[in-house]
Amino acid sequence: MESLKRIRIADLLHEWKSIGAGSTINLKGWVRTKRGNKKVAFIALNDGSIIHSIQIVVDLESFDEATLKLITTGSCISVNGVVVESPGQGQAVELQAREIEVYGTADAETYPLQKKGHTLEFLREIAHLRPRTNTFGAILRIRHAMSFAIHKYFNDNGFYYLHTPIITGSDAEGAGAMFRVTTLDDKKPPLTLKGEVDYTQDFFGKPTNLTVSGQLEGELGAMALSNIYTFGPTFRAENSNTPRHLAEFWMVEPEMAFHDIKDNMDLAEDFLKYLVNYALTNCKDDLDFLNNMYDKELIDRLKFVTENAFQRLDYTEAIDILKASGQTFEYPVNWGTDLQSEHERYLVEKHFMKPVILTNYPMSIKAFYMKQNDDGKTVRAMDVLFPRIGEIIGGSQREENLEKLTRRMNEMGIPENEMWWYIDTRKFGTAPHSGFGLGFERLILFITGMANIRDVIPFPRTPQNAEF
Ligand code: 4AD
Ligand code: MG
Repeated sequence: MESLKRIRIADLLHEWKSIGAGSTINLKGWVRTKRGNKKVAFIALNDGSIIHSIQIVVDLESFDEATLKLITTGSCISVNGVVVESPGQGQAVELQAREIEVYGTADAETYPLQKKGHTLEFLREIAHLRPRTNTFGAILRIRHAMSFAIHKYFNDNGFYYLHTPIITGSDAEGAGAMFRVTTLDDKKPPLTLKGEVDYTQDFFGKPTNLTVSGQLEGELGAMALSNIYTFGPTFRAENSNTPRHLAEFWMVEPEMAFHDIKDNMDLAEDFLKYLVNYALTNCKDDLDFLNNMYDKELIDRLKFVTENAFQRLDYTEAIDILKASGQTFEYPVNWGTDLQSEHERYLVEKHFMKPVILTNYPMSIKAFYMKQNDDGKTVRAMDVLFPRIGEIIGGSQREENLEKLTRRMNEMGIPENEMWWYIDTRKFGTAPHSGFGLGFERLILFITGMANIRDVIPFPRTPQNAEF
């Protein structure tokens, strides 16, 4: 076969006018379908560069039958052919095949994606192959675009990307149960005289875990570089089997010196609107597909978020609204209890009908590092609540006062001696500062309109599930 430079299908569809009808090019990809009659075969070829497949027209007379037989749904081929303007509607160009090489066959009897229209549940069981479907192609391309947009937003706004550790020796954040990291022999760990596992003999000389958040180290960065962000995997070992929880998820955590809670809210709102706008502008084909296939209101919902100011209110006001709502909730509403997803969604979807930023939560339900209000009861926490998602961002202004911080740590039983490095920032050049964490998969849930968080990460980690 003549060796020609391969063109991505995305590039062909965007640039076919300059490539020119009549030119001979090479395409490579996976066969979605093959149909036809006694004279011609029509192959839908997709290489994942774009949602659209391209039609390959094969004149049966010019090819030997044995090769053509190998070309079935799921097989991988390389095609040299001539670009022709497509007579059919829908697509501008197609490829008139001249030469075909089959890279890999896919047995029609056993290839799991033989037919269209599989359920999302079934596709989860074949997570190794689901990227080859239109739905997951779209989701994975959007995930990429959002990662890129996150870095672009922060870079353009003077933030530095700080790489915080994934293995951590502290579990003070209290954000969730942790996964232990150890190299000790699980059958015969070394024991202390008291008969407990002797972690001084472990790899790091102390117990270590996978991090639940990069925030505490992020604060160290902000106390030197002013504005930083982290963007990495985080881990929570809770047994929560919900459509919004993963055991391994990605979190984006900006941390800003000299920002108070209002600045923090302004940044969160601007950031989210930027990301949604970026998707609307740069992921149009994929969003159109998801809008048509899964959720006819998706694009309208995305636009709505970019066009309207988020509602800001105190936790205490939210409790009053929920109590006066006349709704029966599964979990009762009382000042001092954490809001459940049903409460958050009532506020967003029924009461305000737009995204909500709640602030000034009870101190007792929030982390030790949040800035204490003068009332002695509440802290300057902020949660951003989104339609269909509930909490998408959690953050706060941080307590910068050494005495108040350590008093709270003692009340909550957080050992000061293990956190000496964190406390040092309040001893040496402390400053008002704030930050938040955006759950990356919750963002992707919102942008794609998918209903289950297992469908917006390539290889989900949930209780009892780490197959792929
Ligand atoms: O509210 P969280 O627990 O906040 C923190 O971890 C802070 N340290 C963030 C900060 O201030 N820098 O988590 C932040 C966000 C949540 O709002 C949610 O979007 C997401 O992370 N999240 C999860 N996403 C998927 N699966 C889980 N199990 C999640 N837990 C939290
Ligand atoms: Mg939270």
